[in-house]
Amino acid sequence: MLSYKLQKFQATNFRNLFPDIIEFGPKINCILGENGNGKTNILEAIYVLTNKKSFRKNTSFPQYLGIDGGKPEIILSSVFETGEDDLVSYSAKLEEKKAQFFLEGKAIKKKPEIKMIFINPFDSYGFHNVPSSRRTWFDHHISLIDPVYKKTLNKYTSGLRSRNFLLAKKPPQYRDQIKAYDRELASNSVYLTSARLKFISEMVPFCESIFKKIFAEEHELGIELSTKIQGLDEQQVFDLLQSNLEKDEMRCVTSYGVHKDDYVLLFDGLNSFDYCSLGQQKMSYLSLLFAYIELFRYKFSSFPIVLIDDVSGELDKFRWKKLVEFLEQSEFQVLITTANEKFKEELEQIQNAKKIYVESGRIS
Ligand SMILES: Nc1ncnc2c1ncn2[C@@H]1O[C@H](COP(=O)(O)OP(=O)(O)OP(=O)(O)O)[C@@H](O)[C@H]1O
Ligand SMILES: [Mg+2]
Repeated sequence: MLSYKLQKFQATNFRNLFPDIIEFGPKINCILGENGNGKTNILEAIYVLTNKKSFRKNTSFPQYLGIDGGKPEIILSSVFETGEDDLVSYSAKLEEKKAQFFLEGKAIKKKPEIKMIFINPFDSYGFHNVPSSRRTWFDHHISLIDPVYKKTLNKYTSGLRSRNFLLAKKPPQYRDQIKAYDRELASNSVYLTSARLKFISEMVPFCESIFKKIFAEEHELGIELSTKIQGLDEQQVFDLLQSNLEKDEMRCVTSYGVHKDDYVLLFDGLNSFDYCSLGQQKMSYLSLLFAYIELFRYKFSSFPIVLIDDVSGELDKFRWKKLVEFLEQSEFQVLITTANEKFKEELEQIQNAKKIYVESGRIS
């Protein structure tokens, strides 16, 4: 897999951003500015170009479109440097009902494999408190490195939706159809569970040491999967689904399956949700993401581009300093934003880092 690094970017008609060309360095890029000036919008525009969707929930073209813009059209243009020192231009034209993507000026259907990790430390709260956020986190990050997982998960989700639709209709004549769905769900469940366990076992070696590496404290992170499917074969999962059919019919929803799996993040062997302070939860969450980046490098010998949006909040000055040192020693390209004065001071001291100042959507 190629390592992509963003060299230049320009957004036209995207939220409050002016179409200034932003130049990025190969390592740390600090995007600085006061609240509400467009720092996150820059990250979002870059993310939309490479992922065809935003990291903000329930957001699409109408929200992206600059309210002051004339033409209802957004242009996102970029130049990426690939691991082989080559430059490649990649752009998008977004309209209300249409999105076109261009590589070296030619329209393309399949997007280039520019992998990007978005880190918003505020997501730590959802990750620790909401099981569905944890599931989404794991599904998203496993999918990034395992396309078969992504495909299987899509099949599972669509099978589940159809099953629930039939359950809501209630009459027993749909049972044969549900049986067919259960065969497929069982087979996909077994694959998804084994892929989740494999991912966790691959993450473990990186998780064990990452906290110390970033924050210079002896704490060990671990991950556990909590599932009712583990150790069951296809037939047994099928039997489990069928044995719950009557209950499911009453509830109009499928009560067992990998969609109910959960994950536990362990901090020195203890559930981080029960045991950790907010600051420790945030550090654990950041560490988990950096362990993932190390796993990514191990698997593909390349790095994703890392976007970090606003690391203010519960981290104290010592931890920020450590985080900055860790980023300085890392090889990946990072775009990091902050409005926090103290963290800004830390970032401004980094030599060889590119500093990008944003004011009212303009790059200064
Ligand atoms: N569609 C839009 N058109 C024009 N301006 C928009 C649009 N959507 C959002 N904005 C403006 O973008 C600004 C917010 O930008 P952004 O979230 O990037 O700020 P930020 O610099 O990250 O701030 P903070 O430090 O508070 O996170 C707001 O001023 C908002 O009014
Ligand atoms: Mg912001």
